[in-house]
Amino acid sequence: MPVIATVAVATPSHRYEILIGKQLLAAPSTWAGLPQAAQAVLVSNPLVHAHYGAAVESALAAHYGRVSRLLLPDGEQHKDWPTLQTIFDHLLRQGCDRKTLLVALGGGVVGDMTGFAAATYMRGVPYVQVPTTLLAQVDSSVGGKTAINHPLGKNMIGAFHQPERVVADLDTLATLPPRELSAGLAEIIKYGPIADAAFLDWIERHLDALAAGDAEALAYAVRRSCEIKAEVVGADERESGRRAILNFGHTFGHAIEAGLGYGHWLHGEAVGCGMVLAARLSAALGLADEAFAARLAGIVRRAGLPVRPPAMPAPRWLGLMRLDKKAEAGAIRFVLIERPGTAALHAAPDNMVARVIEAASADAGSA
Ligand code: NAD
Ligand code: GLY
Repeated sequence: MPVIATVAVATPSHRYEILIGKQLLAAPSTWAGLPQAAQAVLVSNPLVHAHYGAAVESALAAHYGRVSRLLLPDGEQHKDWPTLQTIFDHLLRQGCDRKTLLVALGGGVVGDMTGFAAATYMRGVPYVQVPTTLLAQVDSSVGGKTAINHPLGKNMIGAFHQPERVVADLDTLATLPPRELSAGLAEIIKYGPIADAAFLDWIERHLDALAAGDAEALAYAVRRSCEIKAEVVGADERESGRRAILNFGHTFGHAIEAGLGYGHWLHGEAVGCGMVLAARLSAALGLADEAFAARLAGIVRRAGLPVRPPAMPAPRWLGLMRLDKKAEAGAIRFVLIERPGTAALHAAPDNMVARVIEAASADAGSA
């Protein structure tokens, strides 16, 4: 039986399932029961398509009269308007109507862009997420956030649009480079501090197995991460409150990505370092204590992620973070840890934020 676990996502706008398992891509049952249409469009990139495209295309061909393919350039630096435009060009040239099913096969970059195209083409068409990175399986494919980057800010142009189904085939992780696996671990680690202290304990105990690609450990981590994300998204689909906790580490992280130029640090690397900074800031504000910040830094480091922030002048950090979507009236708001398993939005004085970054940069234990 290829499905190991099924996680339901129920939001006010849509209900769907996350299928987690092995040998899912070619299994006919994976693709049964999706919206009917004259055609389906597979969106991927050349690298991922070379590994998994043929299996998905032939499985789709059993359900859709026509299956076409569009390969996007690979990389975060291509998560932009010109690349998005190529998706619309393809859909129009292929005569796609408003029932056409889009299938996003790849990591978060392919998923976010395909989702945004699905949200806006003819004011909305259905799509399926087939995440092939660990990061996409535990986070980006779930919850309906879709976006492209703007040179001034990460994920600034986008829409909420839930997929019809998420197909997380753990077998695809076998070809993932170790650096990308580590990037995915960042988003797994995130769920512990914000929502489930016991899961953080589990991660700490199983980190070596996860980093080594142990199938059983990864299956549990993907499942638990999806369960937590499904619960949070179900309670607050459009981020009017609780969903913001999923952004733990992201205010610092997005500043790193935009500040250094997209693609220099991987998203997961920036989030890993961002979580360490956010935990230090939590301690500076008297929320979670220094010991927790040190513990989290140790976990992030063991996951193979950077904990020392890149060199950027404090005004640059603060300017980038003021563009964050959680900022209100120019005031930056950070997701901070109140105690392990509980997080909330807090403001912090600029000089305190600058001191936290400076201290982490100078910390001899940082790498
Ligand atoms: P990515 O999509 O760039 O993929 C990373 C690299 O791995 C790429 O080179 C890709 O071609 C390659 N790859 C993908 N699957 C592979 C496989 N099975 N084997 C070998 N190589 C493979 O990066 P990512 O980390 O998956 O996603 C990061 C993006 O996700 C960022 O743009 C981030 O903003 C976004 N994101 C979105 C959400 C959301 O809720 N929508 C959440 C988190 C992150
Ligand atoms: N990755 C953040 C969110 O989905 O809200």
